[in-house]
Amino acid sequence: MGPAKLQAPKGTFDILPPDGRRRDSLRAVADDLLGRAGYGAFESPIFEDTDLFARGVGASTDIVQKEMFTFEDKGGRSLTLRPEGTAGACRAYTEHGMHKRPQPVKLRYWGPFFRHEAPQAGRFRQFAQIGAEALGSDDPSLDAELILLLHELLERSGVESRLRLSSLGNAGAREAYGEELRAHLRHRESELSEDVRGRIATNPLRAFDSDHEGTRAVMADAPRLIDRLEPEDAEHFAEVRALLEDAGVSYELDPTLVRGLDYYTRTVFEFESPSLGAQSGVGGGGRYDGLVEQLGGPATPGVGWAAGVERILLAGGANLPSERPVYVAIATEAHRRTAFALARELRGAGLGAQVEQAGRSMKGQMKHADRLDASAVVIVGDEIEVKDMSTGEQVQVADAREAIAVVAGAAVSG
Ligand code: HAM
Repeated sequence: MGPAKLQAPKGTFDILPPDGRRRDSLRAVADDLLGRAGYGAFESPIFEDTDLFARGVGASTDIVQKEMFTFEDKGGRSLTLRPEGTAGACRAYTEHGMHKRPQPVKLRYWGPFFRHEAPQAGRFRQFAQIGAEALGSDDPSLDAELILLLHELLERSGVESRLRLSSLGNAGAREAYGEELRAHLRHRESELSEDVRGRIATNPLRAFDSDHEGTRAVMADAPRLIDRLEPEDAEHFAEVRALLEDAGVSYELDPTLVRGLDYYTRTVFEFESPSLGAQSGVGGGGRYDGLVEQLGGPATPGVGWAAGVERILLAGGANLPSERPVYVAIATEAHRRTAFALARELRGAGLGAQVEQAGRSMKGQMKHADRLDASAVVIVGDEIEVKDMSTGEQVQVADAREAIAVVAGAAVSG
């Protein structure tokens, strides 16, 4: 008996070619879309002080209570693999004095995140998020801009989704509302699920999330935060909605929308995709006007979102542009060096190009080009020929320059 087989840890996965291609395309689309709106590339460490998340995400949330990968380093410090990206962005904003830059500071990120959840379709322990944050201004056009950017990203990725939208108001109104809601829950405590009962004091909002029948009946009569917004917050929300309506994006106003993180104020939103089943949240976010200050920085408004890379690709992804390579086939051993050089020239001209590297017969090479979904094959022999793999058409060309022109679909002149 050999040694036990090693496997990737539970809830994680490997990405093998060619599946990585759609991920690459998604990243390129996201970078382009967010980059053009002024969101600059941002990266932060994959692990942070545990305290950042305990204080940032909220001690009563599922993430902090049950889902963090926390460990002690050799110096006895408690560290945690980041479960989300907003707290780290706020820490970095303060640490690097970004409040002294012109505001708002717009950041975009892409990378791995970690939550110790029960794995199922679309839910992993290591997953990737695309995220965007705008710090330093409470202008409602930022809320609308970010929602529209995520909407466009999902659309360009071929993800069908619906947008749920709500507003949580400011911390004061939220607190007063929390008291009102607690009183309502206590008044009808016997009808609630045990889980909800246990959280009346710490997180009464989560009761809106319950699928317990009795709890749902109690929540149907519960007071709604959206009816308790202070005039300034109601106005802010009306402006966000007006901008979304101007852009022709439809949404569902959902006052029961609860996000699993504690830092939100004012606008909250979530995009859901029906094709995802139980894990329908494909991306979401909102405003967090108190978070930077709560983490020890200057009073700074912020708004942002994150979307799950795997969920986007599960729900869509077919639309993502993916470049088809050119294949350089070698007629005989004598043409190997010319073919190798030609592949480099094709790449130099900005094309994707691969040359035969496994000693296949001509028939084998054509089959391999098919497998690679090559757009064209350049056959290098005493003559150079280009075969268009879509039409099957084959033409003879004089040299590499002409081959590039034909492959690129350009007319050959001179
Ligand atoms: P979140 O809703 O917790 O928000 O996560 C955002 C997205 O990450 C989800 O919509 C989902 O697509 C993906 N996701 C979350 N957990 C998993 C998992 N276990 N497996 C696969 N995908 C997952 C946040 O993280 C906030 N930081 C968003 C934000 C940014 N709010 C303001 N700025």
